[in-house]
Amino acid sequence: MRFKLDCAMKLSKPVEADIKEIIASAADLLKKGAPDGEGAVIEKCGISGDEIQMTITSGRYVRPHNAVFRLKNHLCAELGKRYKVGVREIHGKRYTIEFELENEPKKEIKIPYAEVSFSGKKCKLDIKNVDENFLQDNFADRMINLVKEKADAELYEGKGEHWELLWEGKKRDYKWAKDPTKEMEKLGWIMHRGRGQWIFGPTVTRIIKTFESIVVDELIKPLGFEEVIIPKAVTWDVWKRSGHAKSIYPEVYFLCPPQTRDKEFWEDITDEFKITGEVPAEKIKEKIKAPIGGVSYAQCPPLWPYFAGKTIADDSLPIKVFDRSGPSMRYESGGIHGIERVDEFHRIEIVWIDKEEKLMETHAKLLEAYRHIFNDILLLEWRIARVTPWFMAQEGMIGVSEKKDVGTTDFESYLPYKGRDSPWLEFQNLSNNGDKYPKGFNVKAQHGELWSGCTGIGLERWLATFTAQHGLDPAGWPKEFAKRAGKLPDGIKFL
Ligand code: SER
Ligand code: ZN
Repeated sequence: MRFKLDCAMKLSKPVEADIKEIIASAADLLKKGAPDGEGAVIEKCGISGDEIQMTITSGRYVRPHNAVFRLKNHLCAELGKRYKVGVREIHGKRYTIEFELENEPKKEIKIPYAEVSFSGKKCKLDIKNVDENFLQDNFADRMINLVKEKADAELYEGKGEHWELLWEGKKRDYKWAKDPTKEMEKLGWIMHRGRGQWIFGPTVTRIIKTFESIVVDELIKPLGFEEVIIPKAVTWDVWKRSGHAKSIYPEVYFLCPPQTRDKEFWEDITDEFKITGEVPAEKIKEKIKAPIGGVSYAQCPPLWPYFAGKTIADDSLPIKVFDRSGPSMRYESGGIHGIERVDEFHRIEIVWIDKEEKLMETHAKLLEAYRHIFNDILLLEWRIARVTPWFMAQEGMIGVSEKKDVGTTDFESYLPYKGRDSPWLEFQNLSNNGDKYPKGFNVKAQHGELWSGCTGIGLERWLATFTAQHGLDPAGWPKEFAKRAGKLPDGIKFL
């Protein structure tokens, strides 16, 4: 690893002192903490007026973007006392960084702020004109990591997601093998609205609400979870801390407030609509602010500001809450899908927080409750698989966590209308998120380490699973479910 920084330090005023000598006296300071013979070196130093120009180089230790601040402090101490002169500003003119990767990348790698070039496995970053914040905030180190991450991602691409079957339930016979979305549309139970959004009429809503009541009776109440209302408009601060800010952009529905709520500012828009009957969306684009965040995506992250920066009393643990206060959205790819793949979806999100060593106790109880629901009430054909933890996938972190128990299990269901050879449908997940959220939001336990878990019950996915396996006629439904659903609403007859 080689670093070379050409930079300028601006003093608050020109000074008579022998600056070169003062800088030279900092030589030891630039080696502090580094192994013998390592550390930063000042290769060149020149002064004109109130500006000091320097070239600093280093290997792995005391990188120039750190060394320059050691120098700044040294100079301020020396010049401040005697001449009342300080360093006003540091400017990086050119920063070159050379390092070696484990493998030569096949594709071109680009990152912001630098020109990236390769010679075999050797990478060179050429960075020009950076400010003090860039140097102080370790942008350079993160840029090196980003190049490494992109090169590593190449290796994993095409390998697919890590998937490992943990458990598979009983194989069942199905008489019905129709696509429930199509059948429900024919019956007028559901209606597609634009992009991956559906109106669920009374009959199908009864089915969804029956799922909810089963979850409440068999899982939420017996396990003692309390209901909360989590915001559905998520601001960047949340996703910065949850890690989603590293990757969600192609999938998020952005939230843009108006530039102002002044009526006059919007008059041309309202006038145009009144005349043409069309909403001038392109013109609206010019009148809104940059996005402040997006619509709920993973559902649990915007709960965490509630705990952020706090210490949770031992006797409040485990914290056990759930939210079903509104939909989440995800910009899905491709053409029109059925109810099994929607942009706007409804999920019961269950979150628990406990001491590291106790987290799996609740996890095990949840799993047991799910087994009971799927095996004894909904009579589903389903299986459980361990996958790349969703947050790792979403954050572009590849590979599966080595930490015991941390990670996600997906629950998958067989869709008879797709056939035995088709992929199964992921209809919910159960995750041990380790210390990710307590760390990200700085939440502490009175004693010990806090961990957390979450499990999302995708109601559209449950509906897709249940109706694909059992059809739409209550006569063919599992008895226990039919009983809980009661007599279905007649539905609306359209003439
Ligand atoms: N928060 C989880 C997810 O987004 C759902 O429980 O996958
Ligand atoms: Zn979650």
